Amino acid sequence: MIGGALSGTALAGNGGFAPVDAASPNAERIADTYAWVSIFTGFIFVLVQGSLIWFIVRYRRRRRARTEDGAQIHGNTNLEIAWTILPAVILFAIGGFVFYKLPGIQDIPSANASGGRVDVQVKGYRYYWNFTYPNGVIAVDNLRAPVGQNVRLEITAAPFEVIHSWWIPALGGKLDAIPGVTHDTWFRAQGPGVYRGQCAEFCGIQHAAMTAQVEALPREAFESWLAEEARAQEAGTSKLGEETYAGACAKCHGLAGEGDIGPRLAGNSLLEDANALENVVRNGRGLMPPVGKDWQERQLKALTDYLEQGLASGSQG
Ligand code: CUA
Repeated sequence: MIGGALSGTALAGNGGFAPVDAASPNAERIADTYAWVSIFTGFIFVLVQGSLIWFIVRYRRRRRARTEDGAQIHGNTNLEIAWTILPAVILFAIGGFVFYKLPGIQDIPSANASGGRVDVQVKGYRYYWNFTYPNGVIAVDNLRAPVGQNVRLEITAAPFEVIHSWWIPALGGKLDAIPGVTHDTWFRAQGPGVYRGQCAEFCGIQHAAMTAQVEALPREAFESWLAEEARAQEAGTSKLGEETYAGACAKCHGLAGEGDIGPRLAGNSLLEDANALENVVRNGRGLMPPVGKDWQERQLKALTDYLEQGLASGSQG
């Protein structure tokens, strides 16, 4: 039964017991560490629970009177030496392994390493993630990245924000996004695909909706997307407005502006008044945080354009 439970743990992956399958070298090292620690905790679990059951059976009261003491047992030197030394050995084994693995988890590969490196700014807001690429391209919640290339993430939150936590389990550990402080982490996606994640620091009423994903593309596809997107964002023809609405607005106001925990937007004349809209987005209102207080002009314009064309006309039609 216990063997079954442990092998279940080893195979589970997504079953909730074990880390998801690693898709980046740092995530692999975290999974290795998890497996190594599990060996000892599994052994201790079996030992403690096994002893417990054995003691319950072996030393049960039987027909002895309630008032009568059980057999008196005094010290056992060998046993006492063993349970002093063994935990020390286990702690060294775990500690040594962790320190051996840690640099590969934490240290960001150099920009000069083979294949180069893409540096992306990651900024947490209530309740979405804003990404900025070196060429100025902005993306929301969906981070496109090249397969097989190191990506450095510069993670922060604006000074007026709260603490969030960046976490894509298949691509490495969590890292807090702290207002006014920048911390770096990295990943190198080992294959194309979509790797999902979740804000891992309780940040407010829509914390659960604060998801993120990394969409890993073959390097050439990524590079052509990035160049094309830069042109489209400069020309104002990109999907940035729609993406920003879905990330920054829809989680509270609904995808069609139908209203949810935030008021209904569909049909609201505010959507057609870019100045009034900017005022709300930049400064917040009532319970609404200033979701776009420090957005670049291009992102604000993309959103107001999208709302003027999209939601407003949608609500009339
Ligand atoms: Cu952001 Cu939880």
